[in-house]
Amino acid sequence: MTTVNNHLNILLAVESSCDDTAASVWINGKIRSNVISSQKIHAEYGGVVPEMASRQHQSNILPVIDQALSKADISITDVNAIACTQGPGLMGSLLVGYTFCKGLSLALDIPFINIDHIHAHLASHFIDEPTPEFPFLCFLVSGGHTHLVLMNSLTAFEILGKTIDDAAGEAFDKAGKMLELPYPAGPVIDAYSKSGDPKRFAYNIPKNLYPNYSFSGIKTSILYFIRDQQKINPNFVEENIFDLCASIQHTIVLYLIDGMEKTLKNTQIKGIGIAGGVAANSLLREKLMHLGLKYNLPAFIPKMNYCTDNAAMIGRLGYEKWQKQQFGTIYDKCYTRNENF
Ligand code: KG4
Ligand code: ZN
Repeated sequence: MTTVNNHLNILLAVESSCDDTAASVWINGKIRSNVISSQKIHAEYGGVVPEMASRQHQSNILPVIDQALSKADISITDVNAIACTQGPGLMGSLLVGYTFCKGLSLALDIPFINIDHIHAHLASHFIDEPTPEFPFLCFLVSGGHTHLVLMNSLTAFEILGKTIDDAAGEAFDKAGKMLELPYPAGPVIDAYSKSGDPKRFAYNIPKNLYPNYSFSGIKTSILYFIRDQQKINPNFVEENIFDLCASIQHTIVLYLIDGMEKTLKNTQIKGIGIAGGVAANSLLREKLMHLGLKYNLPAFIPKMNYCTDNAAMIGRLGYEKWQKQQFGTIYDKCYTRNENF
């Protein structure tokens, strides 16, 4: 193990809000390691089982942190600050990472930094160069969020619009459930869409909700359509799975992009981006690039492993808060919801 110069600022970042146990090491504001252990067990159950998730975090937390430290070539006693997801998320999952990190900060006598998971997703654009200029329009699309966010800095931002019911990722996952695809269905729908016709089937998109979104109508439209078709042909889903996936993906993505485009027409911004799990969607990535070209704006798409849950984004925001001396205390608590988002 290399001995590290004491003048270096070394941050350990930890994420355990849902079903990914992740740790990342940052040295002097640069990422040095990023380790994720994703829990596969939930696929069998069609969704994340909270009790199982926290048990798995308990098994994973130490090996994941150990690996992040060794990849960064440092030891735990070299760390001089710890950042950890405080919420939102599953309470049992959050508690594993959070209490571990609070304990570590006490034991090592180093500052502890609270990180909001959703805010951290926005920070995923600021991990590697080049980073966006402000104001930056970032569309946060995940399993729990569909938020159009206008960022004026890494820590100052305004939510321009959001979903009034399901999130974009939930829309993918619920549509996938209707098609009997494994959970999470978003990546499967994305993969199957590559072999399907996106214009074969059309679903209802809500009108006049901008800047907000709603996915419940799309969901019902898909449900009724499948039900009606199955009355005529019980094998309808199996026989048309690729076209069904491509059409669903096309509907959701075009709906998302439409709201971004409307915002571009009304706002002075210097760049556009997507963040969160759904930002891994290949059609959304492609459409964002087109939108950037059309409006002559740089379009930012985070690396795949910065889109889904990760600790690199926790480290980026943690480093920012460390510089601003925004520390937490051991009396702070985790939260399952953040009413500000
Ligand atoms: O950000 P994330 O990893 O977890 C949180 O919700 O915080 O997002 C997970 C969501 C799931 O709904 C999953 O189906 C969706 O992201 N997702 C995708 C793709 N990859 C992940 N949705 C569409 N296309 C993808 N390629
Ligand atoms: Zn997330």
